[in-house]
Amino acid sequence: MKFGYFDDEKLEYVITRPDTPLPWINYLGCQAYFGIISNTAGGYSFYRDARLRRITRYRYNNVPHDFGGRYIYLRDDESGEFWSPSWQPTRHDLEDYTCRHGMGYTLIGSRYKRIAAHTNYFVPMDENLEIWQLTLTNHRSERASLSVFSTVEFCLWDAQDDATNFQRNFSIGQVEIEDGVIYHKTEYRERRDHFAYFACSDKVDAFDTQREALVGPYRSWDKPRAVERGRLTNSIAHGWAPIGAHQVKAELAPGETRQIIFVLGYHENSRDQKFDPPDSQIVNKRTVKPIIAKYLDSGNVDAAFQSLHRYWKGLLGILQVDTPDVHTNRMVNIWNAYQCMATFNMSRSASFYESGIGRGLGFRDSNQDLLGFVQMVPARARERILDLAATQLPTGGAYHQYQPLTKRGNNDVGSNFNDDPHWLIVGVAAYLKETGDWSILDEPVPYDNQPGSEQSLFEHLQRSFQYTLDRLGPHGLPLIGRADWNDCLNLNCFSDTPGQSFQTTTNKDGEVAESVFIAGLFVLAGRELADIAERRGLAAEAKSYLTEVAKMEDTIRQHGWDGEWFLRAYDDFGRKVGSKECSEGKIFIETQGFCGLAGVGLDDGMAAKSLESVSQYLATPHGIILQQPAYSRYYLELGEISSYPPGYKENAGIFCHNNPWVMIAETRVGNGDRAHDYYSRINPSAREPISDLHRCEPYVYAQMIAGRDAPTHGEAKNSWLTGTAAWNYYAITQWILGIRTAYDGLQIAPVIPKNWPGFKATRIFRSVTYHLTIERAGEGNHVALEVDGVPVHGDTVSPPTDGRKEVSVKGTLT
Ligand code: GLC
Ligand code: GLC
Repeated sequence: MKFGYFDDEKLEYVITRPDTPLPWINYLGCQAYFGIISNTAGGYSFYRDARLRRITRYRYNNVPHDFGGRYIYLRDDESGEFWSPSWQPTRHDLEDYTCRHGMGYTLIGSRYKRIAAHTNYFVPMDENLEIWQLTLTNHRSERASLSVFSTVEFCLWDAQDDATNFQRNFSIGQVEIEDGVIYHKTEYRERRDHFAYFACSDKVDAFDTQREALVGPYRSWDKPRAVERGRLTNSIAHGWAPIGAHQVKAELAPGETRQIIFVLGYHENSRDQKFDPPDSQIVNKRTVKPIIAKYLDSGNVDAAFQSLHRYWKGLLGILQVDTPDVHTNRMVNIWNAYQCMATFNMSRSASFYESGIGRGLGFRDSNQDLLGFVQMVPARARERILDLAATQLPTGGAYHQYQPLTKRGNNDVGSNFNDDPHWLIVGVAAYLKETGDWSILDEPVPYDNQPGSEQSLFEHLQRSFQYTLDRLGPHGLPLIGRADWNDCLNLNCFSDTPGQSFQTTTNKDGEVAESVFIAGLFVLAGRELADIAERRGLAAEAKSYLTEVAKMEDTIRQHGWDGEWFLRAYDDFGRKVGSKECSEGKIFIETQGFCGLAGVGLDDGMAAKSLESVSQYLATPHGIILQQPAYSRYYLELGEISSYPPGYKENAGIFCHNNPWVMIAETRVGNGDRAHDYYSRINPSAREPISDLHRCEPYVYAQMIAGRDAPTHGEAKNSWLTGTAAWNYYAITQWILGIRTAYDGLQIAPVIPKNWPGFKATRIFRSVTYHLTIERAGEGNHVALEVDGVPVHGDTVSPPTDGRKEVSVKGTLT
């Protein structure tokens, strides 16, 4: 069952009923000012950091699940009836409800008793504000006397504090009102140099800034007293809960359309110009007023919307494909790329499942996110790489997370996740291949943000590699530390105390438990590093890296192979994890995918064999399960993985992030049918017809789909912020379609299904547009290339040397 449809032409998903199984959300803003918005206008906004600069309040884990947001109320001032054009919070039955989630905007529209209301919510490029552009039309045959109410709940302080420190917060709220603009200036009197504002393009008939005055005692947002009465009270907040609410009276003739614009924004003043006059406590509004004035003008708003649209057209235009599969096309051309922008911006911090409080940017997560993002805005990828590297420790290890506002490593979580450092190599290699910008390797970057400790980024990469060599275990495999990619495989933790963090509790000395996954990652990262070193003229270093890589491959063969698949790890007792000898958790996905992806076991058949085992034991119609059999009880020596009930999350859920590793491994053994089949099983668009089972948004990936052992097999959870986005994008574009960035040019190496006649694509790569046509002439994966009609040797198209900006490439597969 569906709850809407894709409008590919407009780059939108159109939701046609408000009561989706879960809130189906979108992100507004893609630079510094961000918002999350649901299909019923729920959600909140923040500036850069969802915790430290939250602008509007949101109560997570609410009933209903999504409650609180950018709510507009309409009231028929003749009948006294009021409703929400976005359905929530009043939940009146609406006619013609639609929510169009598009690229950086959400348009929610409906009709009620012949009054149509459409609100376009978006953040203009390069601005720290959001627009709510409301268009009202009276379809009645008589005049309509309406009141329009806009509402936001301010929260411009630490969002953690907001949920915990009421004894203070209830006394510090302050606002100013000038020309109908509501300024929220809590804490501005002391150390803040920023404030929020909420403005309206129309004459404001009344306003409220104190929540209780609007909502009324013992009431909620579904029935605010002042809206019911049809009269806001001009309340001024002193402490308690500052809000912004405008009332605009709108008289509409039959057939008349009217537009009202609301602007919610964030603004900073320089520290010495905070007040005006300087010796007063009044917010200096000189620099913000022109911005407000600009966006209260509908011409400017329309222009800003057009430029947002052009921006996204440009970003998506970097790669467009035309394959025989509509779901592939739609995800690659629109939604998967779009989701990669969200994961790049948010890492795992702010969604409807990540509170924006607990987690900053993850070191491993953000590096992997680059795989799907780097082609879009390479300059931002560059900045991110340098920020991440600056949180690396002198040992080569890394803080697991950092806060985006301070860019400092997060001490609460600390380090010792022994896979972390290698992801920096993987991220940098992706950047270099995309851009050819070798200068990044010479950038001086500190360790742990300590001034004076700067060394070149290349030196950081070398330390990443060395980190593992300094931490090998009894079998010569990498020690796992607190966890590897699987945050929940905590082999040194042995936690028996409720509530203890599995990630930060370490009871064992860490000298025994080893990870075969990190071994695979080491092989991948080591090869990348050797390639980079070679190209920097460091042949001896390159050779020594490859020697270590070869040694590790041998070790995997000797101690990491279980006969039919790769082992997962050794625990603190030196016992196998992920082996046929285990009673549960006999086979894990991560090592099968990652070893094959890294090229381990390609020559000796191990990779192919391990993939057969995946297909036999782990593949389900809803995706590939993380491990089998699921852990039926808690294992002290395994940690969080066995804390989940069978079928969920890391305990045998379909953890979508690692499915693409298997897809890539399948392409490496030449199996395009299987690679694309696995791709399709978790492709959200392909799952749209089962939206009632899948439940999450059909336009973006979720972190997890419940596995075979769960009572809700096939149900997705935790949508949007997941490494699944980047890895799927990377797997389908670079390995299945095979349009792969390489140091020397664009490599074309498709491993597509046998029954595809071919496909077309356009790729902008280092400022040159490549028009690709791939045709199947046989069933294999051997490609013969013609560049502008001339046959070339090998599968890589070198950049034109004569300044041409357009290149035609024809590939014939046999
Ligand atoms: C989450 C984490 C990621 C981890 C994965 C598996 O997605 O953000 O870092 O690799 O879970 O545990
Ligand atoms: C990962 C896992 C999650 C775990 C978390 C701990 O995100 O997916 O299950 O609780 O790491 O930080």
